[in-house]
Amino acid sequence: MYSEKVMDHFEHPRNVGEIENASGVGTVGNAKCGDIMRIFLDIDDDGIIRDVKFKTFGCGAAVATSSMATELVKGKTVQEAMQVTNKAVMEALDGLPPVKVHCSLLAEEAIHAALWDYAQKKGIVIEGLEKPKSDIHEGEEQEEEEY
Ligand code: FES
Repeated sequence: MYSEKVMDHFEHPRNVGEIENASGVGTVGNAKCGDIMRIFLDIDDDGIIRDVKFKTFGCGAAVATSSMATELVKGKTVQEAMQVTNKAVMEALDGLPPVKVHCSLLAEEAIHAALWDYAQKKGIVIEGLEKPKSDIHEGEEQEEEEY
């Protein structure tokens, strides 16, 4: 059911923890499954993500996607981090079962929420970044029939 990469990131998640005085912190949840994800970004003056950590209170796929998402944004610029969509995270994990797609959306939204927090603190605008949703379930109606 799960790819080897998903299992690997679930069993050995990378970048677990938190960053004190982070440049940006984003917390998102999905009211339907109750899972919560928080991402901390340390961004330097050149807009490069020097460090990233996460805490996920959620299912195995949520742990694996947050782990992979942190690996994908580390060392990247803020603009490059915007390209780390849930699709990119899923591809990097060699796929997820359809009912677990929303877990990867949680990872994308958590990164966006952390970037939003960073932009707010810095008083800058990040191109293409929208105000994060507090509950990612709001945007995934089409998944409804699968339950
Ligand atoms: Fe909801 Fe995985 S079951 S995040």
